Amino acid sequence: MEINLIPRTKRLVARIGGLPLRAWPHEILHAGWRVARPPPALPENFRRPPHDAETIAHDVDYAVFNAQVYCRFLEQVGIALNGAWLLELGPGRNFGIMLTLACMGARVAVADLFLAPWEDDYHGQFYAALRERIKQEAIATSLVPLDAVIAARDYPPAVLLRAADGAENLSPFAAGTFDAVFSNAVFEHVRDHAQVFAELWRLTRPGGYGSHQVDFRDHRALQRPLELLLLAPKKFRREFDECYGECGCQLRPRELRQLFERAGFHILEEHCPLKVDEAYFANFLPRLRVSRSAYRAWPPEGLRDLDVRYFVRKPS
Ligand SMILES: C[S@@+](CC[C@H](N)C(=O)[O-])C[C@H]1O[C@@H](n2cnc3c(N)ncnc32)[C@H](O)[C@@H]1O
Repeated sequence: MEINLIPRTKRLVARIGGLPLRAWPHEILHAGWRVARPPPALPENFRRPPHDAETIAHDVDYAVFNAQVYCRFLEQVGIALNGAWLLELGPGRNFGIMLTLACMGARVAVADLFLAPWEDDYHGQFYAALRERIKQEAIATSLVPLDAVIAARDYPPAVLLRAADGAENLSPFAAGTFDAVFSNAVFEHVRDHAQVFAELWRLTRPGGYGSHQVDFRDHRALQRPLELLLLAPKKFRREFDECYGECGCQLRPRELRQLFERAGFHILEEHCPLKVDEAYFANFLPRLRVSRSAYRAWPPEGLRDLDVRYFVRKPS
């Protein structure tokens, strides 16, 4: 097959021609990235998960850790786990967090735009290992929910409600259903934030809570965490759509905060455990200033936080 590089090269030259020299390295790097790393054929949840012992052990740790974090949060805000309705948005390749909380007595649901299908090699081992861990460490009072999943090699609706829908439209769930809604590393992957926050508001009961962690780094290269911000809006949108949103978002923490507030939520706490490396930032900022990005005039302090967990409450 013959690839005619002339039109591509011409397009690249035309695009960068109007930019100052300092902006060229990024444009060329970006073009190189696109050639070297073509977009994935399928969203991550539809690719077969690895099922080696290390992956299973890591995923069990992650599920137990997060379930315990959510459990402590609910305790602090005075929501009894037993019988509480909990929703996790974008759970990823397994539903271990919500199933651990189900073993603690909660009623649980998950919703994912790309809802992970059952893969025997992975899920059979993963849920068995999670069950063992919960039993050995007496993390929960009951193993019945996990036993039901393991026996069915599927998710009986009496144990876990599942919606194969984006957080933009969760019409399978009635308004005010949930005492709390959780997400980890999801809001940086959604396409329509206005719609997602309208749904979040609709689904949370008055007086209900949310805990949402957002990873604002460029997922294509975490050690160069702000590169995505250099893209002009149209180019970013194309990049985002081509990789099912897996590249991450341009939205910055203060915009996320505004989305919560505009929806009507009170922000109880914001944890920002990760800041940009200053040496990288000093190199990045001049490149941002001469780019065609919608963020080119942003003040530096709005760009430094890379990871934020928002704890929110819907007023009664
Ligand atoms: C980076 S993964 C995070 C998975 C898991 N929460 C974790 O912490 O490992 C992002 C998840 O969000 C899901 N997702 C992407 N867009 C979504 C949307 N619009 N609504 C709901 N989930 C979405 C993806 O399918 C994926 O499961």
